[in-house]
Amino acid sequence: MATLLSIRSLTTVFQCRRVQIEACNNVDLDIDPGQTLGLIGETGCGKSVLGMSILRLLPANGISSGKIIYKNRDLLGLSPEEMRTIRGAEISLLPQNPSTSLNPVLSVGEQLMEGIRLHRGMRKNKAKGAALSMLRSLGLQGGNNRWDKYPHQLSGGMKQRVLAALSITGEPSLLIADEPTKGLDGVGRNRVVALLRRLVGETKTALLLITHDLKVAANLCDQIAVMYAGEIVENGPVGKVLVSPLHPYTQGLLASLPENGLHPIPHYSPGVLGNIQGCRFYPRCQYRRDQCGRQPIVNKKTNGTIVRCLNVSEGGEN
Ligand SMILES: Nc1ncnc2c1ncn2[C@@H]1O[C@H](COP(=O)(O)OP(=O)(O)OP(=O)(O)O)[C@@H](O)[C@H]1O
Ligand SMILES: [Mg+2]
Repeated sequence: MATLLSIRSLTTVFQCRRVQIEACNNVDLDIDPGQTLGLIGETGCGKSVLGMSILRLLPANGISSGKIIYKNRDLLGLSPEEMRTIRGAEISLLPQNPSTSLNPVLSVGEQLMEGIRLHRGMRKNKAKGAALSMLRSLGLQGGNNRWDKYPHQLSGGMKQRVLAALSITGEPSLLIADEPTKGLDGVGRNRVVALLRRLVGETKTALLLITHDLKVAANLCDQIAVMYAGEIVENGPVGKVLVSPLHPYTQGLLASLPENGLHPIPHYSPGVLGNIQGCRFYPRCQYRRDQCGRQPIVNKKTNGTIVRCLNVSEGGEN
């Protein structure tokens, strides 16, 4: 099966007045058709920037280099017009903030109908039927006529579900969902997770799920990529990465969960200013050796997982 999205050596920098912020450094990532890849890591490590780099939605001071091959075309080489035809129809975004992402002056029914008309070229009546059936499947259609509800009349969880439905109206091959469960309570979170699982299952859409929530990632994903200070440090099947992680950072991330005893990783993330030599996790790593901080670290493949650590040997364990 051909890879749907293949990212190679992607580096995204932000040029600020005095400093250059290297938000993504040398990222390699593959997503197969229909695959669900979870992207996890601490706040500020570059997850959203990676998603926005794929969609080419960075602010003006953000520059990406490397390759983002989607269905045999390098997205970084496409014109803005070509990119507009990809967004929504081929690669869609479920954004981080539902409150500011829905149109406040259109009812949710109308928004869904317009999305379907725009992306699928349906006539109004047919699009209305499709939107109604979407509302029903969201659990939003009821006696009190959800069609006419405006975003401000819905709970956070409902808004997020409407946005999730909107994001797949174009029947994209890849959905990038940035923290779709952020700020929701347990019930809201479970509903969004159930909906996403159903959407990707029914439509065979591949999903890049950006999340802090390792439970949600474990629930939805086939594959997990772990990001630290702009780099992917571990990438492998969910059953391996979240159960027997190889990279010391992933091990620390799991140990810091309440259910694992709440053992925080000492010190702070180094930030993402450029010119870092060696391993970015070096100052916080309990297994560090002198050379870890001095030499560039290359990816190694071991038992189906790719790990960026000097102490992990190719084909073996830590
Ligand atoms: N427009 C920008 N200009 C300069 N730096 C930026 C810009 N946008 C993001 N950054 C920096 O890039 C780094 C990565 O940010 P990003 O938003 O991708 O983190 P994240 O992993 O998504 O965090 P969170 O989990 O909190 O959403 C951060 O250090 C951030 O400050
Ligand atoms: Mg983010």
